[in-house]
Amino acid sequence: MKIGVFDSGYGGLTILRELRSLLPGYDYLYLGDNARAPYGTRSFDIVTDFTRQAVEFLFAHGCPLVILACNTASAKALRTIQQRWLPYTDDPSRRVLGVIRPTAENIGSVSQNGHVGVFATPGTIASLSYNIEIQKLFPGFTVTGHACPMWVPLVENGEADGDGADFFVKKDIDALLADDPDIDTVVLACTHYPLLIDKIRRYMPQGIRLLTQGRIVADSLRNYLFRHPEMDARLSKNGTVSFMTTENPDRFNALAAQFIAHPVSAERVSL
Ligand code: DGL
Repeated sequence: MKIGVFDSGYGGLTILRELRSLLPGYDYLYLGDNARAPYGTRSFDIVTDFTRQAVEFLFAHGCPLVILACNTASAKALRTIQQRWLPYTDDPSRRVLGVIRPTAENIGSVSQNGHVGVFATPGTIASLSYNIEIQKLFPGFTVTGHACPMWVPLVENGEADGDGADFFVKKDIDALLADDPDIDTVVLACTHYPLLIDKIRRYMPQGIRLLTQGRIVADSLRNYLFRHPEMDARLSKNGTVSFMTTENPDRFNALAAQFIAHPVSAERVSL
């Protein structure tokens, strides 16, 4: 039985990379819904439906544990899936975990002055999930969200290194810091954004810390498996990884190779 890792597209590969680096012994099945990405501008209902279909698919393909390696899906669909769907399936012992809570838990040890910026998709920002989760844990913190609607399309279209990316990255950094000039920590709360990290570093003023999620999610999964030996026992440990995409696999393989140190051969699937 494998660990399922789901994202709307390529972004979850930034999480998968860290999962495999910290927990190399497990078997992983990555699913990217590239044909329907981006999710970030879609409504709550649609993201919930698409995400549930993806989770059902991963369950049906031998994954009793699924990581939503997508903030938009975690923000919009996780609670509904965990509370209103999973308990009524034929195996309620399967689990679906998200990326927002573990990220929020880490903020307290990173920000010195409690002024936190969040870059995410329009859907994640509109959900206020980060504001709610961070302020639940750290009530004195000021959380300023800023939606970056162009960043995911730039990545999904292979333009992360292009000049267009410079323009939008600079524009969004300026806008966030205009809203709160005291920000000392910025969360890249979309798993696609580490692909733009060089440009983000270039335009972000010195001294502001950038928080990416891969290692945080990997640490949190290790912790989860330690606390849940019954789940750990269900998972096979041959160190394999396989890839599935709802888009053309050739394109997926070419872009995925930027993140994975070996050739990727994805299978095209329908959800
Ligand atoms: N990587 C997803 C996230 O973390 C992406 C978004 C999208 O499809 O818009 O939010």
